[in-house]
Amino acid sequence: MNWNRRHLLDLQSLSAEELTLILDTARHFKSLGERPKKKFPALLGKTVVNLFVEPSTRTRISFELAAVRLSADVINFTAEASSLKKGETLKDTVRNLEALQADFVILRHSASGAPHFLSRFARAHVVNAGDGAHEHPTQGLLDTFTIREKKGRLAGLNVTILGDILYSRVARSNIWALVRLGAKVTLCGPPTLVPRQLESLDPNIRVTWNLEEALRDADVVNLLRIQHERQRVTMFPSIGEYAALFGLNPARMKWVKPDALIMHPGPINRGVEIESDIADGDQSVILEQVTNGLAVRMAVLFLLNGGRSGEVAGT
Ligand code: NCD
Repeated sequence: MNWNRRHLLDLQSLSAEELTLILDTARHFKSLGERPKKKFPALLGKTVVNLFVEPSTRTRISFELAAVRLSADVINFTAEASSLKKGETLKDTVRNLEALQADFVILRHSASGAPHFLSRFARAHVVNAGDGAHEHPTQGLLDTFTIREKKGRLAGLNVTILGDILYSRVARSNIWALVRLGAKVTLCGPPTLVPRQLESLDPNIRVTWNLEEALRDADVVNLLRIQHERQRVTMFPSIGEYAALFGLNPARMKWVKPDALIMHPGPINRGVEIESDIADGDQSVILEQVTNGLAVRMAVLFLLNGGRSGEVAGT
């Protein structure tokens, strides 16, 4: 099967079949990545531009390595050192990149909708690497991949997302992928960051401000950082108070099932949303999420390029 999309802008518009195709393709790339020969010629001669207008460690490096593993030429563009600082518009920047034959533009931007805007005129494939508080599709895919790999399924699982849901693009992409693939999602955190209206997104979403209730029947607990950079007003009294009321600590781990997965997209604020011993503990799959991100991003680039999942399986 191949994928007939030009861009990956969000997960909200993807069907269960499309999500499963990406996850299955990523599984093949993950097993191929465990062999000594890790490079594939799928994107040979293609140019991938990482256009990151907001800070990033994991996501940018992961996209870069994914493109390199697929044999593409990769250009890393950092806003701080570019003509965006001299007043050039995003549209002009991308037109110039296309004049140099960029085939893929991986965009991270603080404005929600920036990748959708690009996709209206870009000839290149546009991949959303996080737009404002809207979506972070490859993070949603790698989280879903990790859960499916560890638990063997998604349907019927209880996934709790804990923290700053209101400003989190990771939460939104996770929600869409999880509910479409049959999981039940519980959203928990301070009421100012987890409004009750989020329940109206889908019947399989529940909001609770009671941490014990959110943790007790969870098969997965995905913790989120407080997105200070996006909060225009203070949404809670202090970091200390957040940690005291919602931070995952050893006492609260007693409410969590012993086989539940502890996840976090990074960057972690140790001692705030999660205590160090838990982040580094047996139930944590935080670093496996990073490993899986590479396979998922290879799958996305490969499929957008017209690759068929059967081709990877047979490599
Ligand atoms: C997230 C992001 O940038 O949205 N990080 C990531 O991509 N791994 C989450 C965050 O910044 O808290």
